[in-house]
Amino acid sequence: MMKKVVVITGAATGLGRATALKLATQGFNLVLVDFNEQQGLQTMKDAQALGAEALFVKADVSNEEEVKHYVAQAVETFGTIDFFFNNAGIMVPFRLLHDYTTEEYNRIMDINLKGPFLGIKHVIPVMLANGGGTIINTVSSNSFKPTAYNGIYSATKHALAAFTKSIGQDYQEQQIYAVGVAPNTMQTTIAQSATVTLDATVGAAIHASTGKNIAATADEVAESMIFAMENGKLLTGSIINCAGGEIYN
Ligand SMILES: NC(=O)c1ccc[n+]([C@@H]2O[C@H](COP(=O)([O-])OP(=O)(O)OC[C@H]3O[C@@H](n4cnc5c(N)ncnc54)[C@H](O)[C@@H]3O)[C@@H](O)[C@H]2O)c1
Repeated sequence: MMKKVVVITGAATGLGRATALKLATQGFNLVLVDFNEQQGLQTMKDAQALGAEALFVKADVSNEEEVKHYVAQAVETFGTIDFFFNNAGIMVPFRLLHDYTTEEYNRIMDINLKGPFLGIKHVIPVMLANGGGTIINTVSSNSFKPTAYNGIYSATKHALAAFTKSIGQDYQEQQIYAVGVAPNTMQTTIAQSATVTLDATVGAAIHASTGKNIAATADEVAESMIFAMENGKLLTGSIINCAGGEIYN
């Protein structure tokens, strides 16, 4: 049987890397995408050491030419794309909306929203030719409710949840499915770029806007990513909420 082909963006560190290393032991061909070349190559080597055929493609997900390139590399190397993880993402400093610069707005919208759009735009034609496929979007607890001082990040994750629902609604006859996975507090380094503005006021507001929840490791959330990927038909258009006990009203 032909091995299934998986493309993962943001595969250098955190959740993307954890998902890649789990899939490496499960007989998938892997295309690992990131703009962090050094760590991306490390994920590739570690996946290969676990027995997978794995390729690293350096790309900035917000650059359409680079998106076309990683899609073309996947097809050229492995023939098609069966599963696509739209996982790369960033945070920007915690601020009130009127304090963000337009540059900060553009950067996070480009990476967290335009990046997944460009991936969807260029991967879906491959999936249509392939007779179907499943897209897994890494959304967030911020897709349901913004935490304080996190308005633009939250907007990107609400919008990515909307893409998930649109695909669920619009591609049923084409057997193309989309599932969101929403981590809550996940132990990675993504928040480092946000905490530069963390002071007592911001910290207290974030604490007040966040219900009590159990933190998860990237390794734990990766199990939900794989469940989403394996159950696209059932779950399409929906979001797996890894809430860790937090209630969203
Ligand atoms: N950690 C959390 O608490 C949490 C909670 C909810 C959602 N998320 C989401 O999980 C996803 C993975 O994040 P993580 O927590 O594993 O953090 P991470 O920083 O370890 O991983 C993100 C990866 O994306 C890559 N990346 C960023 N911008 C890129 C670009 N323009 N082009 C290519 N690659 C790019 C980074 O280099 C990194 O390897 C993100 O979409 C994030 O928003 C994280």
